[in-house]
Amino acid sequence: MENWVRLADAGDLAPGSCREVVAGDRLIALFNVDGQFYALDGVCPHQGGPLGKGSLRGCVVTCPWHGWQFDVRSGQHQFSPTVRQPTLPVRVENGAVLVNLAG
Ligand code: FES
Repeated sequence: MENWVRLADAGDLAPGSCREVVAGDRLIALFNVDGQFYALDGVCPHQGGPLGKGSLRGCVVTCPWHGWQFDVRSGQHQFSPTVRQPTLPVRVENGAVLVNLAG
């Protein structure tokens, strides 16, 4: 099942930046790593911090609340192998960043 939703204009999210986007009842963290877009569930699994408002360095986002770090490409926590934040499929179409909320 697919449910592609437009989250942003590709030109509005510069490389090395991230943002929090509300899509339906979901909070999505959207990232631009060197021109490639990635999306994670935006609610940090630690205590619910906003990952889309974190700081992005390379492909790693740091949660603004307590510093948990995730690879935005895979959702993998940087220190705990058992913690993986859900990822969502992303594609760019006609200058718009689309995310599959069902993915
Ligand atoms: S809520 Fe994200 S590190 Fe604590």
